[in-house]
Amino acid sequence: MQLPENMTTNQYKADKWRARSDLARQNTRRILITGGCGFIGSHVIRLFVNTYPEYLIINVDKLTYAANPDYLKDIEDAPNYLFIQADVADYSKMEDIFSTYAPDSVIHLAAESHVDRSITDPFEFARSNVMGTLTLLQCAKNAWKKENYANHIFYNVSTDEVYGALGFDDGPFLETTPYDPRSPYSASKASADHFVRAFYHTYGLPIKISNCSNNYGPYQYPEKLIPVVIYNIVDRKPLPIYGKGENIRDWLYVEDHARAIDLIFHKGLVGETYNIGGNNEWQNITLIHKLIEITDRLLERPAGDSLSLISFVTDRPGHDLRYALDISKLQNQLGWQPQMPFDQGLETTIRWYLDTRLHTQPLRTQPRTQPLRTQPRTQPQDGAQQKHT
Ligand SMILES: NC(=O)c1ccc[n+]([C@@H]2O[C@H](COP(=O)([O-])OP(=O)(O)OC[C@H]3O[C@@H](n4cnc5c(N)ncnc54)[C@H](O)[C@@H]3O)[C@@H](O)[C@H]2O)c1
Repeated sequence: MQLPENMTTNQYKADKWRARSDLARQNTRRILITGGCGFIGSHVIRLFVNTYPEYLIINVDKLTYAANPDYLKDIEDAPNYLFIQADVADYSKMEDIFSTYAPDSVIHLAAESHVDRSITDPFEFARSNVMGTLTLLQCAKNAWKKENYANHIFYNVSTDEVYGALGFDDGPFLETTPYDPRSPYSASKASADHFVRAFYHTYGLPIKISNCSNNYGPYQYPEKLIPVVIYNIVDRKPLPIYGKGENIRDWLYVEDHARAIDLIFHKGLVGETYNIGGNNEWQNITLIHKLIEITDRLLERPAGDSLSLISFVTDRPGHDLRYALDISKLQNQLGWQPQMPFDQGLETTIRWYLDTRLHTQPLRTQPRTQPLRTQPRTQPQDGAQQKHT
Protein backbone atom coordinates (compact mmCIF):
# COMPACT_ATOMS: atom_id res chain seq x y z
CA MET A 1 0.00 0.00 0.00
CA GLN A 2 1.39 3.45 -0.97
CA LEU A 3 1.16 5.55 2.18
CA PRO A 4 1.12 9.33 2.36
CA GLU A 5 4.41 10.67 3.70
CA ASN A 6 4.95 10.44 7.49
CA MET A 7 1.94 8.22 7.95
CA THR A 8 1.95 4.75 9.50
CA THR A 9 -0.24 2.01 8.09
CA ASN A 10 -2.36 2.20 11.19
CA GLN A 11 -2.88 5.96 10.99
CA TYR A 12 -3.79 5.52 7.35
CA LYS A 13 -6.28 2.77 8.15
CA ALA A 14 -7.72 4.75 11.07
CA ASP A 15 -8.20 7.85 8.87
CA LYS A 16 -9.73 5.80 6.10
CA TRP A 17 -12.14 4.12 8.47
CA ARG A 18 -12.96 7.39 10.17
CA ALA A 19 -13.76 9.00 6.83
CA ARG A 20 -15.93 6.09 5.79
CA SER A 21 -16.97 4.46 9.02
CA ASP A 22 -19.35 2.25 7.04
CA LEU A 23 -16.17 0.39 5.97
CA ALA A 24 -15.70 -0.77 9.54
CA ARG A 25 -19.28 -1.90 9.63
CA GLN A 26 -18.75 -4.32 6.75
CA ASN A 27 -16.91 -6.76 9.01
CA THR A 28 -19.05 -9.53 10.45
CA ARG A 29 -17.87 -8.59 13.95
CA ARG A 30 -16.06 -5.56 15.25
CA ILE A 31 -14.30 -6.34 18.50
CA LEU A 32 -12.69 -3.68 20.64
CA ILE A 33 -9.81 -5.31 22.51
CA THR A 34 -8.16 -3.11 25.13
CA GLY A 35 -4.58 -3.44 26.36
CA GLY A 36 -3.54 -5.26 23.19
CA CYS A 37 0.04 -3.98 23.29
CA GLY A 38 0.64 -5.60 26.69
CA PHE A 39 1.72 -9.13 27.53
CA ILE A 40 -1.55 -11.09 27.41
CA GLY A 41 -3.35 -8.63 25.14
CA SER A 42 -0.78 -9.04 22.36
CA HIS A 43 -1.33 -12.81 22.34
CA VAL A 44 -5.12 -12.34 22.30
CA ILE A 45 -4.92 -9.81 19.45
CA ARG A 46 -2.65 -12.07 17.39
CA LEU A 47 -4.96 -15.05 17.92
CA PHE A 48 -8.09 -13.11 16.91
CA VAL A 49 -6.52 -11.30 13.93
CA ASN A 50 -5.15 -14.57 12.52
CA THR A 51 -8.13 -16.80 13.34
CA TYR A 52 -10.95 -14.46 12.30
CA PRO A 53 -10.02 -12.55 9.13
CA GLU A 54 -13.71 -11.58 8.75
CA TYR A 55 -13.66 -9.68 12.07
CA LEU A 56 -12.34 -6.17 12.55
CA ILE A 57 -10.06 -6.17 15.62
CA ILE A 58 -9.64 -2.71 17.13
CA ASN A 59 -6.80 -2.55 19.63
CA VAL A 60 -7.09 0.36 22.08
CA ASP A 61 -4.02 0.82 24.23
CA LYS A 62 -2.63 3.83 26.06
CA LEU A 63 0.93 2.53 25.59
CA THR A 64 2.11 2.72 29.16
CA TYR A 65 5.62 1.62 30.13
CA ALA A 66 4.34 -2.02 30.03
CA ALA A 67 3.24 -1.84 26.40
CA ASN A 68 5.33 -2.60 23.37
CA PRO A 69 3.80 -2.13 19.90
CA ASP A 70 6.66 -4.23 18.51
CA TYR A 71 4.94 -7.26 20.06
CA LEU A 72 2.42 -6.99 17.22
CA LYS A 73 4.80 -6.24 14.34
CA ASP A 74 3.84 -9.48 12.60
CA ILE A 75 0.16 -8.53 12.29
CA GLU A 76 0.18 -4.72 12.31
CA ASP A 77 -0.47 -4.51 8.56
CA ALA A 78 -3.28 -7.09 8.54
CA PRO A 79 -6.36 -5.62 6.86
CA ASN A 80 -8.60 -6.66 9.77
CA TYR A 81 -6.47 -4.96 12.44
CA LEU A 82 -6.59 -1.38 13.65
CA PHE A 83 -4.62 0.21 16.48
CA ILE A 84 -5.74 3.31 18.34
CA GLN A 85 -3.61 4.85 21.05
CA ALA A 86 -6.02 5.97 23.78
CA ASP A 87 -6.65 5.84 27.50
CA VAL A 88 -9.69 3.72 28.36
CA ALA A 89 -10.46 6.13 31.20
CA ASP A 90 -10.82 9.01 28.70
CA TYR A 91 -14.61 9.16 28.35
CA SER A 92 -14.87 11.40 25.30
CA LYS A 93 -12.23 9.41 23.42
CA MET A 94 -13.99 6.12 24.17
CA GLU A 95 -17.35 7.61 23.17
CA ASP A 96 -15.77 8.73 19.91
CA ILE A 97 -14.36 5.24 19.27
CA PHE A 98 -17.76 3.64 19.91
CA SER A 99 -19.55 6.05 17.59
CA THR A 100 -16.94 5.82 14.80
CA TYR A 101 -16.17 2.11 14.73
CA ALA A 102 -19.36 0.72 16.28
CA PRO A 103 -17.75 -2.24 18.06
CA ASP A 104 -20.30 -4.94 18.81
CA SER A 105 -18.16 -6.42 21.58
CA VAL A 106 -15.43 -5.52 24.03
CA ILE A 107 -12.71 -7.75 25.41
CA HIS A 108 -11.20 -5.66 28.16
CA LEU A 109 -7.63 -6.37 29.25
CA ALA A 110 -6.16 -2.88 29.66
CA ALA A 111 -4.99 -2.43 33.22
CA GLU A 112 -2.12 -1.49 35.43
CA SER A 113 -1.00 -4.98 36.39
CA HIS A 114 1.98 -4.90 38.72
CA VAL A 115 1.26 -5.47 42.42
CA ASP A 116 4.41 -3.71 43.65
CA ARG A 117 3.56 -0.60 41.64
CA SER A 118 0.03 -0.67 43.09
CA ILE A 119 1.52 -0.51 46.57
CA THR A 120 3.43 2.66 45.73
CA ASP A 121 0.81 4.29 43.45
CA PRO A 122 -2.70 2.97 44.21
CA PHE A 123 -4.44 5.97 42.62
CA GLU A 124 -3.23 5.10 39.12
CA PHE A 125 -4.68 1.62 39.62
CA ALA A 126 -8.05 3.05 40.65
CA ARG A 127 -7.99 5.39 37.67
CA SER A 128 -7.03 2.92 34.95
CA ASN A 129 -8.53 -0.27 36.30
CA VAL A 130 -11.73 0.99 37.94
CA MET A 131 -12.55 4.22 36.11
CA GLY A 132 -11.29 2.76 32.84
CA THR A 133 -13.63 -0.21 33.15
CA LEU A 134 -16.56 1.97 34.22
CA THR A 135 -15.94 4.29 31.27
CA LEU A 136 -16.03 1.40 28.80
CA LEU A 137 -19.14 -0.07 30.45
CA GLN A 138 -20.98 3.23 30.20
CA CYS A 139 -19.98 3.75 26.56
CA ALA A 140 -20.99 0.17 25.69
CA LYS A 141 -24.33 0.58 27.46
CA ASN A 142 -25.09 3.85 25.69
CA ALA A 143 -24.08 2.49 22.29
CA TRP A 144 -25.83 -0.87 22.57
CA LYS A 145 -29.04 -0.16 24.47
CA LYS A 146 -30.94 0.98 21.36
CA GLU A 147 -30.54 -2.54 19.98
CA ASN A 148 -31.60 -3.92 23.35
CA TYR A 149 -28.07 -5.34 23.70
CA ALA A 150 -28.73 -8.09 21.14
CA ASN A 151 -25.51 -9.78 19.89
CA HIS A 152 -23.26 -7.73 22.13
CA ILE A 153 -20.70 -8.89 24.67
CA PHE A 154 -18.66 -7.05 27.28
CA TYR A 155 -15.96 -9.48 28.40
CA ASN A 156 -13.81 -8.49 31.37
CA VAL A 157 -10.47 -10.25 31.80
CA SER A 158 -9.75 -10.54 35.51
CA THR A 159 -7.44 -12.28 37.93
CA ASP A 160 -7.50 -14.98 40.60
CA GLU A 161 -6.11 -12.42 43.06
CA VAL A 162 -9.59 -10.99 43.66
CA TYR A 163 -10.43 -14.10 45.71
CA GLY A 164 -7.81 -13.39 48.38
CA ALA A 165 -5.25 -15.90 49.63
CA LEU A 166 -5.31 -19.62 50.48
CA GLY A 167 -3.50 -21.62 53.15
CA PHE A 168 -1.34 -24.58 52.13
CA ASP A 169 -4.16 -27.08 52.76
CA ASP A 170 -7.17 -25.08 51.55
CA GLY A 171 -9.21 -26.16 48.54
CA PRO A 172 -8.90 -24.03 45.38
CA PHE A 173 -10.98 -20.94 44.62
CA LEU A 174 -14.32 -21.54 42.92
CA GLU A 175 -16.18 -19.04 40.72
CA THR A 176 -18.53 -18.61 43.71
CA THR A 177 -15.77 -17.84 46.23
CA PRO A 178 -16.49 -14.40 47.76
CA TYR A 179 -14.06 -11.67 46.77
CA ASP A 180 -11.42 -10.78 49.36
CA PRO A 181 -8.73 -8.67 47.62
CA ARG A 182 -5.58 -7.88 49.61
CA SER A 183 -3.51 -5.51 47.45
CA PRO A 184 -4.45 -2.23 45.74
CA TYR A 185 -4.04 -4.09 42.42
CA SER A 186 -6.46 -6.89 43.32
CA ALA A 187 -8.84 -4.38 44.96
CA SER A 188 -8.96 -2.42 41.70
CA LYS A 189 -9.59 -5.58 39.66
CA ALA A 190 -12.28 -6.73 42.13
CA SER A 191 -13.93 -3.34 41.93
CA ALA A 192 -13.92 -3.50 38.13
CA ASP A 193 -15.53 -6.96 38.24
CA HIS A 194 -18.22 -5.64 40.61
CA PHE A 195 -19.04 -2.81 38.19
CA VAL A 196 -19.22 -5.28 35.30
CA ARG A 197 -21.70 -7.47 37.21
CA ALA A 198 -23.64 -4.39 38.33
CA PHE A 199 -24.13 -3.38 34.68
CA TYR A 200 -25.42 -6.88 33.93
CA HIS A 201 -27.95 -6.86 36.77
CA THR A 202 -28.95 -3.20 36.54
CA TYR A 203 -29.06 -2.57 32.79
CA GLY A 204 -28.98 -6.05 31.27
CA LEU A 205 -25.60 -5.43 29.60
CA PRO A 206 -24.44 -8.86 28.34
CA ILE A 207 -21.22 -9.55 30.24
CA LYS A 208 -18.73 -12.35 30.77
CA ILE A 209 -15.85 -12.45 33.25
CA SER A 210 -12.86 -14.76 33.54
CA ASN A 211 -10.43 -14.96 36.45
CA CYS A 212 -7.04 -16.34 35.51
CA SER A 213 -3.99 -17.44 37.45
CA ASN A 214 -0.36 -16.35 36.79
CA ASN A 215 0.54 -16.22 33.13
CA TYR A 216 4.01 -16.82 31.76
CA GLY A 217 5.42 -16.74 28.23
CA PRO A 218 7.08 -14.44 25.70
CA TYR A 219 6.41 -10.69 25.67
CA GLN A 220 5.98 -10.12 29.41
CA TYR A 221 7.48 -6.84 30.59
CA PRO A 222 10.66 -7.62 32.53
CA GLU A 223 9.50 -6.46 35.93
CA LYS A 224 7.60 -9.67 36.69
CA LEU A 225 9.11 -12.71 38.35
CA ILE A 226 10.03 -14.98 35.44
CA PRO A 227 11.62 -12.43 33.07
CA VAL A 228 13.41 -10.70 35.96
CA VAL A 229 14.93 -14.00 37.08
CA ILE A 230 16.00 -14.90 33.51
CA TYR A 231 17.63 -11.50 32.92
CA ASN A 232 19.35 -11.53 36.30
CA ILE A 233 20.75 -14.99 35.63
CA VAL A 234 22.11 -13.76 32.29
CA ASP A 235 23.64 -10.70 33.99
CA ARG A 236 24.82 -12.71 37.02
CA LYS A 237 22.86 -10.42 39.33
CA PRO A 238 21.23 -11.47 42.63
CA LEU A 239 17.85 -13.22 42.43
CA PRO A 240 16.07 -11.73 45.44
CA ILE A 241 13.25 -13.97 46.67
CA TYR A 242 10.56 -12.58 48.95
CA GLY A 243 10.46 -14.22 52.42
CA LYS A 244 11.44 -17.87 52.26
CA GLY A 245 10.21 -18.35 48.70
CA GLU A 246 7.44 -20.60 49.96
CA ASN A 247 4.54 -18.70 48.34
CA ILE A 248 2.64 -20.83 45.86
CA ARG A 249 1.24 -19.75 42.51
CA ASP A 250 -0.56 -21.57 39.72
CA TRP A 251 1.08 -20.98 36.31
CA LEU A 252 -0.53 -20.97 32.87
CA TYR A 253 1.14 -20.50 29.49
CA VAL A 254 -0.11 -17.25 28.00
CA GLU A 255 -1.28 -18.82 24.72
CA ASP A 256 -3.47 -21.23 26.70
CA HIS A 257 -5.04 -18.17 28.35
CA ALA A 258 -5.63 -16.55 24.96
CA ARG A 259 -7.36 -19.73 23.70
CA ALA A 260 -9.56 -19.77 26.79
CA ILE A 261 -10.55 -16.13 26.19
CA ASP A 262 -11.44 -16.98 22.58
CA LEU A 263 -13.58 -19.92 23.74
CA ILE A 264 -15.35 -18.02 26.51
CA PHE A 265 -15.95 -15.05 24.24
CA HIS A 266 -17.61 -17.24 21.60
CA LYS A 267 -19.15 -20.06 23.63
CA GLY A 268 -19.37 -18.93 27.25
CA LEU A 269 -22.75 -18.05 28.71
CA VAL A 270 -23.74 -14.42 29.21
CA GLY A 271 -23.63 -13.36 32.86
CA GLU A 272 -21.22 -16.17 33.78
CA THR A 273 -17.77 -16.21 35.31
CA TYR A 274 -15.10 -18.77 34.40
CA ASN A 275 -11.88 -19.58 36.25
CA ILE A 276 -8.87 -20.17 33.98
CA GLY A 277 -5.78 -21.87 35.37
CA GLY A 278 -3.10 -24.41 34.69
CA ASN A 279 -3.68 -26.91 37.54
CA ASN A 280 0.02 -26.26 37.92
CA GLU A 281 1.03 -25.02 41.39
CA TRP A 282 4.64 -24.30 42.24
CA GLN A 283 6.41 -22.81 45.23
CA ASN A 284 8.41 -19.77 44.14
CA ILE A 285 11.69 -21.26 45.29
CA THR A 286 11.10 -24.44 43.27
CA LEU A 287 10.20 -22.35 40.23
CA ILE A 288 13.42 -20.34 40.62
CA HIS A 289 15.41 -23.59 40.73
CA LYS A 290 13.72 -24.72 37.50
CA LEU A 291 14.51 -21.39 35.82
CA ILE A 292 18.14 -21.63 36.92
CA GLU A 293 18.43 -25.20 35.66
CA ILE A 294 17.04 -24.44 32.20
CA THR A 295 18.69 -21.03 31.76
CA ASP A 296 22.13 -22.27 32.82
CA ARG A 297 21.77 -25.17 30.37
CA LEU A 298 20.75 -22.89 27.49
CA LEU A 299 23.63 -20.53 28.30
CA GLU A 300 25.97 -23.55 28.35
CA ARG A 301 27.00 -22.82 31.90
CA PRO A 302 27.79 -25.62 34.38
CA ALA A 303 24.69 -27.12 36.02
CA GLY A 304 23.75 -25.14 39.14
CA ASP A 305 26.09 -22.29 38.24
CA SER A 306 23.50 -19.61 39.13
CA LEU A 307 22.21 -21.16 42.37
CA SER A 308 24.55 -18.91 44.36
CA LEU A 309 22.68 -15.85 42.99
CA ILE A 310 19.59 -16.68 45.08
CA SER A 311 19.17 -14.18 47.90
CA PHE A 312 16.25 -14.06 50.32
CA VAL A 313 14.86 -10.56 51.02
CA THR A 314 12.24 -9.12 53.40
CA ASP A 315 8.77 -10.22 52.39
CA ARG A 316 6.35 -7.92 50.55
CA PRO A 317 3.65 -6.42 52.84
CA GLY A 318 0.42 -8.41 52.62
CA HIS A 319 2.05 -11.06 50.46
CA ASP A 320 -0.63 -13.66 49.65
CA LEU A 321 0.60 -17.15 50.52
CA ARG A 322 -1.14 -19.19 47.85
CA TYR A 323 -3.56 -18.93 44.94
CA ALA A 324 -5.15 -21.96 43.30
CA LEU A 325 -8.16 -22.22 41.03
CA ASP A 326 -10.80 -24.86 40.44
CA ILE A 327 -11.11 -24.81 36.64
CA SER A 328 -13.62 -27.66 36.29
CA LYS A 329 -16.41 -25.33 35.09
CA LEU A 330 -14.38 -24.27 32.05
CA GLN A 331 -13.20 -27.83 31.44
CA ASN A 332 -16.61 -29.46 31.79
CA GLN A 333 -18.85 -26.84 30.20
CA LEU A 334 -16.64 -25.55 27.39
CA GLY A 335 -14.12 -28.40 26.98
CA TRP A 336 -11.02 -26.23 27.48
CA GLN A 337 -7.74 -27.76 28.71
CA PRO A 338 -4.35 -26.18 29.26
CA GLN A 339 -2.11 -27.60 26.54
CA MET A 340 1.42 -26.39 27.13
CA PRO A 341 3.48 -28.69 29.41
CA PHE A 342 5.21 -26.54 32.04
CA ASP A 343 8.82 -27.49 31.32
CA GLN A 344 8.32 -26.98 27.58
CA GLY A 345 6.55 -23.65 28.16
CA LEU A 346 9.35 -22.46 30.44
CA GLU A 347 12.01 -23.46 27.93
CA THR A 348 10.16 -21.70 25.09
CA THR A 349 9.83 -18.61 27.27
CA ILE A 350 13.48 -18.61 28.37
CA ARG A 351 14.67 -19.08 24.78
CA TRP A 352 12.57 -16.08 23.72
CA TYR A 353 13.99 -13.88 26.49
CA LEU A 354 17.53 -14.99 25.78
CA ASP A 355 17.09 -14.16 22.10
CA THR A 356 15.59 -10.78 23.00
CA ARG A 357 18.18 -10.06 25.65
CA LEU A 358 21.27 -11.34 23.93
CA HIS A 359 20.67 -10.92 20.22
CA THR A 360 18.18 -8.12 19.70
CA GLN A 361 17.10 -5.05 21.66
CA PRO A 362 17.10 -5.67 25.39
CA LEU A 363 13.58 -4.75 26.50
CA ARG A 364 14.79 -3.20 29.70
CA THR A 365 17.89 -1.21 29.01
CA GLN A 366 17.66 -0.08 25.40
CA PRO A 367 16.53 3.53 24.82
CA ARG A 368 12.95 3.47 23.62
CA THR A 369 12.81 4.51 20.02
CA GLN A 370 9.20 3.79 19.13
CA PRO A 371 7.49 7.16 18.65
CA LEU A 372 4.19 5.87 19.99
CA ARG A 373 5.51 4.36 23.16
CA THR A 374 5.46 6.36 26.38
CA GLN A 375 8.42 6.40 28.73
CA PRO A 376 8.30 4.32 31.89
CA ARG A 377 7.21 6.35 34.90
CA THR A 378 9.87 4.61 36.91
CA GLN A 379 12.45 2.12 35.81
CA PRO A 380 11.76 -1.43 36.95
CA GLN A 381 14.20 -2.59 39.57
CA ASP A 382 16.54 -5.47 39.12
CA GLY A 383 15.06 -7.37 42.02
CA ALA A 384 12.36 -9.98 41.67
CA GLN A 385 9.43 -7.60 41.39
CA GLN A 386 6.74 -10.18 41.57
CA LYS A 387 3.28 -9.40 40.31
CA HIS A 388 1.53 -12.41 41.69
CA THR A 389 4.16 -13.71 44.01
N1 LIG B 1 -0.26 -11.27 33.82
C1 LIG B 1 -0.99 -12.15 34.50
O1 LIG B 1 -0.48 -13.14 35.01
C2 LIG B 1 -2.49 -11.94 34.62
C3 LIG B 1 -3.24 -12.95 35.22
C4 LIG B 1 -4.64 -12.78 35.30
C5 LIG B 1 -5.23 -11.66 34.78
N2 LIG B 1 -4.46 -10.68 34.23
C6 LIG B 1 -5.15 -9.50 33.68
O2 LIG B 1 -4.95 -9.51 32.27
C7 LIG B 1 -4.88 -8.18 31.78
C8 LIG B 1 -3.60 -7.99 31.00
O3 LIG B 1 -2.50 -8.26 31.87
P1 LIG B 1 -1.00 -8.18 31.33
O4 LIG B 1 -0.17 -9.02 32.22
O5 LIG B 1 -0.98 -8.40 29.89
O6 LIG B 1 -0.67 -6.66 31.64
P2 LIG B 1 0.44 -5.71 31.00
O7 LIG B 1 0.80 -4.77 32.09
O8 LIG B 1 1.50 -6.50 30.33
O9 LIG B 1 -0.35 -4.93 29.85
C9 LIG B 1 -1.37 -4.02 30.13
C10 LIG B 1 -1.65 -3.22 28.88
O10 LIG B 1 -2.72 -2.31 29.19
C11 LIG B 1 -2.37 -1.03 28.72
N3 LIG B 1 -3.02 -0.04 29.58
C12 LIG B 1 -2.81 0.18 30.90
N4 LIG B 1 -3.60 1.17 31.33
C13 LIG B 1 -4.33 1.59 30.27
C14 LIG B 1 -5.32 2.59 30.08
N5 LIG B 1 -5.72 3.38 31.09
N6 LIG B 1 -5.87 2.73 28.85
C15 LIG B 1 -5.49 1.95 27.81
N7 LIG B 1 -4.53 1.00 27.94
C16 LIG B 1 -3.96 0.83 29.15
C17 LIG B 1 -0.87 -0.96 28.81
O11 LIG B 1 -0.34 0.04 27.94
C18 LIG B 1 -0.47 -2.37 28.43
O12 LIG B 1 -0.30 -2.49 27.03
C19 LIG B 1 -5.00 -7.27 33.00
O13 LIG B 1 -6.33 -6.85 33.09
C20 LIG B 1 -4.62 -8.17 34.16
O14 LIG B 1 -5.26 -7.75 35.34
C21 LIG B 1 -3.10 -10.79 34.13
